[in-house]
Amino acid sequence: MSYEPKNSRYEKMHYRRCGSSGLKLPAISLGLWHNFGEDYDHNSKRIICQAAFDNGITHFDLANNYGPPPGSAEEAFGEILKTDFSKFRDELIISSKAGYNMWDGPYGEWGSRKYLISSCDQSLKRMGLDYVDIFYSHRFDPDTPLEETMGALDYIVRSGRALYAGISSYNSNRTRQAVEILKELGTPCLIHQPSYNLMNRWVETDGLLDTLDELKIGSIAFTPLAQGLLTDKYLSKIPTDSRAMQGKSLNKTMISSNMMKNLNHLNDIAVARGQTLAQMAISWVLRKERVTTALIGASSARQILDCVGAIENLEFSGVELEEIDRYAKEESINLWAKSAEL
Ligand SMILES: NC(=O)c1ccc[n+]([C@@H]2O[C@H](COP(=O)([O-])OP(=O)(O)OC[C@H]3O[C@@H](n4cnc5c(N)ncnc54)[C@H](OP(=O)(O)O)[C@@H]3O)[C@@H](O)[C@H]2O)c1
Repeated sequence: MSYEPKNSRYEKMHYRRCGSSGLKLPAISLGLWHNFGEDYDHNSKRIICQAAFDNGITHFDLANNYGPPPGSAEEAFGEILKTDFSKFRDELIISSKAGYNMWDGPYGEWGSRKYLISSCDQSLKRMGLDYVDIFYSHRFDPDTPLEETMGALDYIVRSGRALYAGISSYNSNRTRQAVEILKELGTPCLIHQPSYNLMNRWVETDGLLDTLDELKIGSIAFTPLAQGLLTDKYLSKIPTDSRAMQGKSLNKTMISSNMMKNLNHLNDIAVARGQTLAQMAISWVLRKERVTTALIGASSARQILDCVGAIENLEFSGVELEEIDRYAKEESINLWAKSAEL
């Protein structure tokens, strides 16, 4: 079935400037980490991407290893680009990354020049693209000189494979070093991609958000819904169709009865604000302009529509924020903590 995007697609979404760059990103972006592998029906993937674009989500985030199997999310998105978005490439911001294990042998992960450049070429091929808009170092590599990793990002941009460079899950100190090197090379760091949500606030304690503010670099907060925990899905039980039940990157043991109680308290606060819990969780990460965009995932168009509704209420009173802090307890859900410790 052919697809024509809605003419109204730019009416409601807010677009925020990414740091001090010229690029604006939608307040909500869509990531294809889950639900875009071979374990998911292709038509559902199309419907999710169409719902996103119809609602002003112009930014789609990928990585070499998204699947399963690794690479299949980029292949699926490449198909969608061909069938649905071919006329709209200039309306889209597409990103990819390299850093985690992608192929066998010593050149298939981490941060060497060899890995980053060949991985970027593979991603472009899988998506059928001449360039991505943003290319990221997916994680800091303690065994490769940072000059080499940043030099590879600089080369990827200079050679036309990407328009901008970004880093993901680097701590505040490593971010300062990476940004300085990129500046010297003449390819400024556009954006940082850290995990951040009501139950995972390392970017506040590490000082990363303050650092990004000071350096005038944008940020894209991933897992703003704590992989779905901060939604109405888990308020009474762990549903069979959820990520936690499928044991993907969430599992049942991560969900305690105390967490469920806190989620219900947070849900009550959201209802009092006229929002769903998912909407309040997204509004909360976006409450200050220093988070440029909230990077959500979705398994249906309905979830996209619900999430997009968050932008209708981004203001919080001091009383609301205090009450949220009573129940938004740090939980052991930050799967990326190790990368930020390096
Ligand atoms: N840089 C990195 O290292 C890194 C790491 C992880 C993720 N990311 C990026 O961040 C993106 C988002 O990650 P994520 O998918 O974990 O984010 P998330 O937004 O925290 O969780 C998405 C999940 O929440 C559930 N959900 C979404 N909207 C909902 C709604 N309105 N009502 C009820 N449930 C809802 C769905 O779960 P079900 O599928 O169970 O329905 C969905 O798959 C990824 O796709 C990727 O692009 C980056």
